[in-house]
Amino acid sequence: MKHIYYQEGQLYCEQVRLHDLAEEYDTPLYVYSKTQILENFNAINGAFGEMDHVTCYALKANSNPAVLKMLAEAGAGADVVSGGELFLALRAGFPQQKITFAGVGKREDEIEYALKENIFSISVESIQELQLVSLVANRLNTTAQVSIRINPDIDAESHPYITTGLKQNKFGIESEKIQETFKIAKSLPSIEIHGIHTHIGSQITKVEPFAAAAKLVVDWVAKLRADGIGITHIDFGGGIGVPYANTIKHEALPVDELPENQIPPAEQFIAGVLPTLQQAGCSVWVEPGRSIVADAGVLLTKVLYTKETSARKFVVVDAGMTELLRPSLYGAYHQIVPLSIDTFVQEKVDVVGPICESGDFLARDRLMPKTKQQDLLAVMTVGAYGFVSASNYNGRLRPAEILVNGDRVRVIRPRQTFDHLLQ
Ligand code: LLP
Repeated sequence: MKHIYYQEGQLYCEQVRLHDLAEEYDTPLYVYSKTQILENFNAINGAFGEMDHVTCYALKANSNPAVLKMLAEAGAGADVVSGGELFLALRAGFPQQKITFAGVGKREDEIEYALKENIFSISVESIQELQLVSLVANRLNTTAQVSIRINPDIDAESHPYITTGLKQNKFGIESEKIQETFKIAKSLPSIEIHGIHTHIGSQITKVEPFAAAAKLVVDWVAKLRADGIGITHIDFGGGIGVPYANTIKHEALPVDELPENQIPPAEQFIAGVLPTLQQAGCSVWVEPGRSIVADAGVLLTKVLYTKETSARKFVVVDAGMTELLRPSLYGAYHQIVPLSIDTFVQEKVDVVGPICESGDFLARDRLMPKTKQQDLLAVMTVGAYGFVSASNYNGRLRPAEILVNGDRVRVIRPRQTFDHLLQ
């Protein structure tokens, strides 16, 4: 069930009217549904049944400490990509043995931090990194549990900026060098090589690329075992896509012009790879981010001005690329809807922010209900990769974040004040 919905023309998050939140806490404002996040997590985690697995939440999607805490309490593990995310994961209460650390450019101090905290796995992406992990582990008189991230050269058919499993991408070890890399890992002191990791990209909308990656990983586990390398752990990464178009429907809303995304629900992605992955007899970890939090979040924004030129109609709102970077960076599509529906008249507009860049827009050439000054709007499906990419560019203050649970409302991050700009 969707927890952001219309009732009598008013947009709600769980039992709370979003118009009331915008008035009380001001805009721009991020609002998340706790119930939606937990339902999303439980659907993915539950899809594994009795299998030995850990669903590691990818912190990069949304690292608000309150969100992390509730996922840790729900039994999630954590996929971190920096010392900062490791710190947040530990603070939120994720058990060390359910934390995995990926990333192509780990610094020595970050490796040291991970080893001192005795996390489950460091996912290594190059031979030089392996050597550094070995050196640091040796110095600390400990053994590093290591996975190696392979680059399967599979096209995830996603946006080029978030496709990670192709040869030309910086991630992982390409197939020609996989055997050699594992052999080096086996020979290095203070390293226990236990896993194989892959992550082919993000916002993947079909099961097929995952199925191909699963087959490849399982084949590698067999080859490596034949070489005497005892793999016991598969980390299959994240990347499950979510719909962005037509996520919310109302008779006053246009049907988005994008073809309705026929994206299978997350549990179907898992079901599509489990039978293959099971053949390896390993523990299987996954690292979903977007599919847990994206549809649980909205960004509330206010119409400052409407403005018409001979070429276009603009709706100038108080949120822009500093609050939500995805449209500017990837041309990403987010549905934008009114908090209160009061008209059936529609018009085609550009929804733009206040930043001094022509690339600062939330929507272009978008048919939507006609808006006027002071109207309140919701940008949909922003729970993932939304707030985390907010910046202080143009002296903007990072917005507040609110968590709704039933009829309860909690500020989980206050809005920044001018003082933050001095730090
Ligand atoms: N694991 C690794 C190693 C990753 O690099 C990522 C995402 C994930 C897991 C989580 O992927 P997810 O389940 O969320 O697709 N800023 C972009 C997305 C960047 C994804 C980076 N890596 C966006 O807004 O679409």
